[in-house]
Amino acid sequence: MNRFENFLNKFDENNWLKSLSDLLPIIHEVDRNATQIWFRFYPLTLFNYLQSAEDKTTVVQKFVMQGNYELKNQIDSSHKFLYGHRFWKEVKNEITNRADTYNNEDTDLTNEIKQIAKAVAGKFKVSDSLTVGITTIGLMTLTQVGFDPFKNAAGEVIAPHGLLKKSPEQIVRERARDDGQGLLGFLKTIDKQWTVRYDESKDNGKFKLMDDEEIASGAARDQSQNWLAQDARCGEGVIPVECRSAACGTCWIGILSGAEKLSDVATRERKQMKIFGYNQGDAPKPFLRLACQAKANGAVSIVIPPWNGVFGKKIYGNVEEIELEPATTSAAKLRETIATATAKD
Ligand code: FES
Repeated sequence: MNRFENFLNKFDENNWLKSLSDLLPIIHEVDRNATQIWFRFYPLTLFNYLQSAEDKTTVVQKFVMQGNYELKNQIDSSHKFLYGHRFWKEVKNEITNRADTYNNEDTDLTNEIKQIAKAVAGKFKVSDSLTVGITTIGLMTLTQVGFDPFKNAAGEVIAPHGLLKKSPEQIVRERARDDGQGLLGFLKTIDKQWTVRYDESKDNGKFKLMDDEEIASGAARDQSQNWLAQDARCGEGVIPVECRSAACGTCWIGILSGAEKLSDVATRERKQMKIFGYNQGDAPKPFLRLACQAKANGAVSIVIPPWNGVFGKKIYGNVEEIELEPATTSAAKLRETIATATAKD
């Protein structure tokens, strides 16, 4: 481990989230939620727990983890839903150079992030606000994958398409825009429809939702692609679902924009999110939701994590007991059993 890795390893997940919280005001709105969501998709506490496990395979089974939860397999791509992803190659180079030259200077995490983001922004002649989020993610990626794999990654950038091709300001404006409901749309009540963007990098990365419908239901109606062939967790639609009753944690999503257009988080959803481990504050309209519970009254942009699991009680220890309704499939039943067991530990 080099000196810079030693420096980064001094900080626990709370330290990182505190730095991120301090930096939020200077992160452009286009990536403000995206950066916070990314940090919940790849929690340091879970990574450290798995790293220190004597038998990682057993722990992964115990947490019912499915999908791609390790950053080492997606160094260049885990952040592809950020606007700042386009700066990734340079971010990676700047971080690598900084790691090579770091000599135990008296600095702190927030300052390190700012300095590296500034250097990257200078090279592209853009505002630092567009590089702070992706730089913070880059430093956490180095922390979890180690210096050599980080340095040796190709630094590939996926060329932006769809909404992500536009300017940051245009993206923010278009995200906020609700669907027109046609002539006399103002008279419509139950038959209003809203667009849910689940992949802003693709023109067709969206589906329609009826007014006041759960996001997971709209996703299941979209059979335009073979979702199962793309992701083994996706038996019904682009969003993985199992129980549809906030019991299994399979359907968690990040809300890039439009959180205020979703139904409030109910007590059950909030408690379950803690059991599952999807760590966030207590805001009534948070940026992580269960797609089977969140109902929309307007257009929203979401991001679907590449994995699921139930690990909150074990790694965060902040879970209260809750009565669970029966799950409806065997996988959901297994998750429910584990969620119940961990809640009662
Ligand atoms: S499908 Fe939403 S929690 Fe199970």
